[in-house]
Amino acid sequence: MKLGLYHIQLMRYYEEVLAQAVRNYAFTGDKKWEMRYRAVEPMSDGLLKDAIANTDEKIKPFFIVMDKANMRLVKMEYGSIDLVNEGKKEQAIDLLESKEYADQRKVLAGGLEDFITKIESKTFSSDDLSDIMIPSVQQIIELERKLAVMEDNLKKEKLFAIGELSARLAHDIRNPLSVIKTSINILVSKGDVDAKTMEMYERMERAVERITYQIDDVLNFVKPRVSSLKNTSLDEILASVLARIEIPKTVVMTTPTKNIEFVGDIISLEIVFVNLITNALQAINNSGEITISADVQNEKIIIKIHDNGPGMPSDVVPKIFDPLFTTKQTGTGLGLTSCKTIIEQHGGHIEVESAVGKGTTFVVTLPYRRII
Ligand SMILES: Nc1ncnc2c1ncn2[C@@H]1O[C@H](COP(=O)(O)OP(=O)(O)OP(=O)(O)O)[C@@H](O)[C@H]1O
Ligand SMILES: [Mg+2]
Repeated sequence: MKLGLYHIQLMRYYEEVLAQAVRNYAFTGDKKWEMRYRAVEPMSDGLLKDAIANTDEKIKPFFIVMDKANMRLVKMEYGSIDLVNEGKKEQAIDLLESKEYADQRKVLAGGLEDFITKIESKTFSSDDLSDIMIPSVQQIIELERKLAVMEDNLKKEKLFAIGELSARLAHDIRNPLSVIKTSINILVSKGDVDAKTMEMYERMERAVERITYQIDDVLNFVKPRVSSLKNTSLDEILASVLARIEIPKTVVMTTPTKNIEFVGDIISLEIVFVNLITNALQAINNSGEITISADVQNEKIIIKIHDNGPGMPSDVVPKIFDPLFTTKQTGTGLGLTSCKTIIEQHGGHIEVESAVGKGTTFVVTLPYRRII
């Protein structure tokens, strides 16, 4: 059978749940047997239930099947250990070799014989058990690592291709756009037109503004570029950003009380805040509160942009930094991609806290490079 995208997705889900269970529990105690058990347990209980609750209908049955498979693994291991302890080695082998446990047998590192020898050799010293369990845990971790690298490479390739295309587009659109812009300005300044025509000019102007935003603040910054670090301050950056964005009177805009002077790439950081504030304005639909706060902690500048908009559903949150992800009719879905690129180029990172009904907060963390 050829694996389709759907199957790969299923496998990915399972691996994530499994890897998480292992990460959370397998290395936390020193009683290895208990750890082994616990590595399986949270997957069949809490974690699995969470996963099932947040998973779409098609994937749910897969979890349930995996859950059963893991419960069987625990049963097989415990069952055979008990039998060996009771001196019933033959029965233990029968159990381990039974058809029912065909799949479970495969995960015993070193094979069946080895497993039995280890049980017999007594008394499940934690080292023995770690020999039994660790290889399978390591395999899982290795698999997880490989998948992460693959996914990361895929994302990078995708971003690179989009970056190349955007840079070319941005360059090619700029010239004809400035012709349109100047021509509208000339027409408007001539005056002497009826209200309806004037309204049309204004609509054209707004449309041109929108394209300009997409080029200057979005398309042009998807690809990392050489940054030019200069002395600047948060006040300076925000003042210039707020001069560029029209904030309606129906919006309560709170800016940080404390200024922070630092070294950064002014132009690209302005792009970040234009994007984040534009998103916030769109989220509150031009009416509500936007609060920007800033602080320095442990040599890091932490800037938070909060809006009291509708917040994002939990299935949207993990996707918002992906290139081309948008929930808007006129969005390109590249705004947050360029923010992430720029912030990471500064050696910082950007995160989001958002939930439906609770608004959204973007947290930008930058290394604090002091002005010399
Ligand atoms: N403050 C916010 N509140 C709610 N959702 C948000 C917020 N900011 C971003 N999002 C979500 O993240 C998505 C991606 O944002 P991004 O800025 O990358 O693209 P966009 O705003 O859709 O388009 P563009 O920025 O190109 O105009 C948005 O479509 C929206 O669903
Ligand atoms: Mg945006």
